[in-house]
Amino acid sequence: MLGPVLLAASRSDRLRRVVAAAPVTRPVVDRFVAGDALHPAMDTVRALTASGLDVTLDHLGEDVTDRATARHTRDAYLRLLETLAAAGLGDRAEVSVKLSAFGQALPDGGHDVALENVRSVAELATANGTTVTLDMEDHTTVDSTLAVLHELRRAHPRTGAVLQSYLFRTEADARDLATAGSRVRLVKGAYNEPAHVAFQDRRSVDRAYVRALRTLFAGDGYPMVGSHDPRMIAIAQELAARAGRAPGSYEFQMLYGIRTAEQRRLAEAGERMRIYVPYGADWYGYFMRRLAERPANLAFFLRSFAPS
Ligand code: FDA
Repeated sequence: MLGPVLLAASRSDRLRRVVAAAPVTRPVVDRFVAGDALHPAMDTVRALTASGLDVTLDHLGEDVTDRATARHTRDAYLRLLETLAAAGLGDRAEVSVKLSAFGQALPDGGHDVALENVRSVAELATANGTTVTLDMEDHTTVDSTLAVLHELRRAHPRTGAVLQSYLFRTEADARDLATAGSRVRLVKGAYNEPAHVAFQDRRSVDRAYVRALRTLFAGDGYPMVGSHDPRMIAIAQELAARAGRAPGSYEFQMLYGIRTAEQRRLAEAGERMRIYVPYGADWYGYFMRRLAERPANLAFFLRSFAPS
């Protein structure tokens, strides 16, 4: 029950100000976010890659409402890619982008604004030997995001995208994208979606996840298993074995700060394990989605308000 309330709160500007101003918030945010700026995030990137983990970086931000801010997002990603190249990380460090931060929701031609902004990022990523993955936001953005993917892949075929198993449409999208060269991160989905587009109960979302996993592992693309769920991870390993896929022809992905022991265990077992590392000052929406996923996180957060 709490999940939808927290997800609705994740879009409230008033609550954003209250939560951000509370001094106790920071240590809880730090569990999930690798700092307010690129510099501290790079310390995290170096530590993770030195321990055998790959990364995908997210410069936090979403729901941009003007063109200038959308261009700032693009510029922040260009700086990020330059910094990653200077660190010599190649495709061990790629970037994840939310098209709403690139202007997708702007009323006049938002789709095209986002496409042009993200195209510059994809060009630099390709030139630097790495990749871009398009995060997936709420269901109203899926058609636009997949159209941007299609367009970018003409010149940058390794551009990836995210599919969310809670959406009814994802089975068909997974079939369309299970083709040579395509990179798909499969997740369960983190937004508050209505019953006419998405499964509402956990078991149906999990079953849909397994169906989409089967499609992706049987296809010719590069599956990216974005989940912390031990059952989904075991099933993915089983499907990889059945399809005769060696580690490196698929990968696991988890979020920074979540199930870190399991992240290390999979990497030590020879799996390719990539950590999604968010950084930046605009952490509110991302943070609230992490609270919504797990009631224990909310309890931990609320306990930090109690006098010690
Ligand atoms: P599930 O929610 O069933 O969790 C399984 C176990 O993982 C839990 O029992 C717990 O141990 C641990 N866990 C999960 N979430 C936790 C949390 N917040 N805090 C602490 N422990 C937690 N979504 C989206 O809509 N669009 C996107 O682009 C992305 N991108 C993305 C990238 C990557 C790399 C990952 C791993 C996830 C996303 N997501 C996402 C989020 C995704 O949709 C989903 O909400 C979370 O991954 C939680 O689902 P799980 O598959 O982990 O399973």
